[in-house]
Amino acid sequence: MTEKKMGIPFGTICITDTAKRLINEALDSKRISSGKLVREFEKKFAALYGVKEAVAVSTGTDADALALAVLYDYGAHRGDEVILPALSFVATGNAVLHAGFTPVFVDVERETLNINPDLIESAITEKTIAIMPVHLMGKPAKMDEISKIARKHHLKVIEDAAEAHGAEYKGKKVGTLGDLAAFSLYVAHIITTGEGGIVITNDTEKAEILRSLRSHGRACKCETCVVSTGSGYCAKRFNNPAHTDIRFVFERFGFSCKMNELEAAIGLGALEQYAAILTKRTHNLHAMMQVIQKYDKYMFTIQEEAHEKIGPHAFPIILKEGTGFTRDALVNYLEKNGIDSRNMFQTMPTQCAGFKYLGYREGQFPESDYIADNGLHIGVHQDITDEQINYLDRVLEKFVNEKQRTL
Ligand SMILES: Cc1ncc(COP(=O)(O)O)c(C=O)c1O
Repeated sequence: MTEKKMGIPFGTICITDTAKRLINEALDSKRISSGKLVREFEKKFAALYGVKEAVAVSTGTDADALALAVLYDYGAHRGDEVILPALSFVATGNAVLHAGFTPVFVDVERETLNINPDLIESAITEKTIAIMPVHLMGKPAKMDEISKIARKHHLKVIEDAAEAHGAEYKGKKVGTLGDLAAFSLYVAHIITTGEGGIVITNDTEKAEILRSLRSHGRACKCETCVVSTGSGYCAKRFNNPAHTDIRFVFERFGFSCKMNELEAAIGLGALEQYAAILTKRTHNLHAMMQVIQKYDKYMFTIQEEAHEKIGPHAFPIILKEGTGFTRDALVNYLEKNGIDSRNMFQTMPTQCAGFKYLGYREGQFPESDYIADNGLHIGVHQDITDEQINYLDRVLEKFVNEKQRTL
């Protein structure tokens, strides 16, 4: 008997009644550019992470770029170098360029998908200012080793935690392990605003700089109020000329990437559901890990080690060497059976055209190339049921059996 195609979509989005109500209120008030909802979202996001500050922006890429651009206020220069993994979503490398720095790529480890700390020190030069580890697929990077190297060489650590909502490392939340951390809030992510990003830090001065950076480099403090207005606009100046008009005072080079009220409304709704979503996704992640275990002759996924919790962003599958079939064969089979997938990210320095000018050579990042050429990821989201995970198991079993017969 042929089985009915059940299908597993790659992603989903949760737009709550709270979000809809807040969106309508914002629309009715005609105040939809960055305002009180954005500030409320930032406050709640910071509270969730137990940090002092959260600064919301338009995208996760902007969050990465701004977190890096803060370093100009601390002596960094254009063209200084940032060390990052060769394998990540291309946004990580793009953000380094957006911020005006030079990306220096380091290979990853096949089993963790993350930057290999043993290769970092040899990539450090007198121009290195920061290390930007990525917690790919929610698997925490080896932060103890990375932080030790950073301390030794006086480098900043900026976490790209775009995919790591809910991840933990040695009892601490991923995103609180470096100097600053950037999250994406794009629809594919656990907490989403549709499009969006957010930077978190415990350093209030850095948060002020981030608020300035997201708004053209504008001064953010009225000299009389001294406290940040968030937007470069002091409402008190209408009644009291001592309060400064800082809307056209630009203290540093800047970006234009504020979050708007409609996005913040979606985010506030998502935060209400966050605990339930995280629990369900974690359940799905663990169930899928068990499924993959059955086919470990052919494929593997990331492992959750005792010291960590993986943030269940998506579910990576990497084919092992010598299986006799290709990643595309598996992808096509999954697709034919209604299971959405995405290929794994590419090796930025050699497979993404935007970095070719840096002159890296093919084969310089063997582990990254292996994952890029043999990896894929599928959804692990909250709408996936146990029944669908069982279906995934049956589809994989059929695929493997069919391949075995033809090999
Ligand atoms: C590792 C990583 N960094 C940065 C980003 C950029 O986020 P956005 O798409 O919100 O710009 C993403 C996006 O998913 C990502 O996966």
